[in-house]
Amino acid sequence: MKNLVTGGAGFIGSHLVDELVRRGDQVIVYDNLSTGFRRHLEIALDQNAVELVHADMLDQDKLNDAMRGVERVFHLAANADVRGGRANTLVDLEQNIIGTHRVLEAMRINGAKEIVFTSSATVYGEPDIFPTPETYAPLQTSIYGASKLAAEAMIQAYGEYFGIRSFSFRFVSWIGERYSHGVVFDFIKKLQANPRKLEILGDGNQKKSYLHVEDGVNAICKALDNMKDLKNVVNLGHSDYLNVVDLANIVVEEMGLSGVEYDFTGGVRGWLGDSPFVHLDISRIRNAGFEPHVSIEEGIRRTVRYLLSNQWLLHDRAVGTT
Ligand SMILES: NC(=O)c1ccc[n+]([C@@H]2O[C@H](COP(=O)([O-])OP(=O)(O)OC[C@H]3O[C@@H](n4cnc5c(N)ncnc54)[C@H](O)[C@@H]3O)[C@@H](O)[C@H]2O)c1
Repeated sequence: MKNLVTGGAGFIGSHLVDELVRRGDQVIVYDNLSTGFRRHLEIALDQNAVELVHADMLDQDKLNDAMRGVERVFHLAANADVRGGRANTLVDLEQNIIGTHRVLEAMRINGAKEIVFTSSATVYGEPDIFPTPETYAPLQTSIYGASKLAAEAMIQAYGEYFGIRSFSFRFVSWIGERYSHGVVFDFIKKLQANPRKLEILGDGNQKKSYLHVEDGVNAICKALDNMKDLKNVVNLGHSDYLNVVDLANIVVEEMGLSGVEYDFTGGVRGWLGDSPFVHLDISRIRNAGFEPHVSIEEGIRRTVRYLLSNQWLLHDRAVGTT
């Protein structure tokens, strides 16, 4: 099968690319390398197993060209920085809504028939049902979440008009090898700058689920293999969750530090739009045969070890929390 992966040089996209290559699929990576890295693709590029198109998804002509003959699109390119929408109120509209529309247009023009979209648990805002099912009717608390929900809606409408089959995966935070943004990343950067004190956004009681890349990619494959509907909206998360202080303790321990003083900025949220509790109902993906295997604690330890032995990533990527 011929696949095009927008954002394929990013943290999650590059793991999907490796899996597609492993399955013997044809892969085109379409990426502007704004937050992604050629280095994440070095295994696939060394094997001449992927074609990398260095271009922006907002460039409709280049996207149309790259889409020729493509059967399935993994659409990951996005503004993945949840916090940025307050300072720049256009970025989520342009990157996440208009960007998705450009991808759908390129698919329509070229007759591509399947899209896998990376949505987010952020679409649930601050829900009052836990674990939160896909059927929950959310109110939005962030421009990022609103843009992801709008993109899901656009994808479903294209499904109706043009028969494009879709999977919108609502992710909790992913962790693991090649992780390049998020709370673990921020904590390591802060602790490297000052190993005695760690600033924690909020009161540290925010509880969140995390999914290791190995489990995440496996879950997506299970859904693609076993879900048969035209439009599929699927939570991807872990059965477990962890609070921010416990997460900080694991990071501190893995870094070999002790006696670190935690400095809380206060309030139940880390930032405006942050959800104090993220725990998704994963029965839908379980019914497709998925079960998470990497515990959240083990996933965080592996992430810290990866970043400590790949310092280039800590230096080359700006801080941002998803
Ligand atoms: N990481 C998480 O925990 C998480 C959670 C929920 C949802 N998501 C979603 O998953 C997707 C992937 O996230 P990630 O963590 O791998 O982020 P990432 O920043 O590592 O990857 C995004 C990729 O898209 C590329 N890109 C960005 N804008 C582009 C544009 N205009 N044109 C072409 N390429 C562009 C970047 O260069 C990068 O390679 C995103 O859509 C994100 O919103 C991620």
